[in-house]
Amino acid sequence: MSKSSGNLLLIGFMGVGKSTLAKELARELKSVCLDTDKIIENMESQKIKKIFEAEGEEYFRELEQRVAFWLEENVQNSIVSTGGGFIAVKNLKKIGRVIYLKSSFEAILKKIEKHPEAKKKLAKRPLLQDKKKAKELFKKRADIYEKLADITLDVEKYKNEKEAAKELLKLI
Ligand code: S3P
Repeated sequence: MSKSSGNLLLIGFMGVGKSTLAKELARELKSVCLDTDKIIENMESQKIKKIFEAEGEEYFRELEQRVAFWLEENVQNSIVSTGGGFIAVKNLKKIGRVIYLKSSFEAILKKIEKHPEAKKKLAKRPLLQDKKKAKELFKKRADIYEKLADITLDVEKYKNEKEAAKELLKLI
């Protein structure tokens, strides 16, 4: 399946708001949304943090690839939010139209910090524990996100995901 699958695939860095925006879009489009991290947690009966601790990142990336192949083969007309590193899968562009939620690293951190559940949001992300390393990862990935995108949405312009979703609906 390719772009004609009717799927919208949300990519972008950790904490940028992919899952929340996916829910907004699904509601507006009367569609359904899937979250690759949630699928993996269900597959493993374990939270992402625990999977990283017990099996390591490489194993997690293998699970992401398995999910990516499954999405390509089986899912249509859905909104799919992805983990920040899901862009490494071989078949990303075959899953659906790729929408990149773009934001600066600083704005992402600020957004997480001001969230009422900030501690939880931070704790569940192993690759966000060391801010310096996370910033390096952000820099490394920025171009990759950009290149993979069919549509780029600069989410910093909008006051929340509802507003961003409204704008995105005009673009799709
Ligand atoms: C990751 C992002 C996380 C999750 C895992 C690894 C990454 O998802 O998949 O912790 O490599 O950027 P979010 O983007 O939802 O935080």
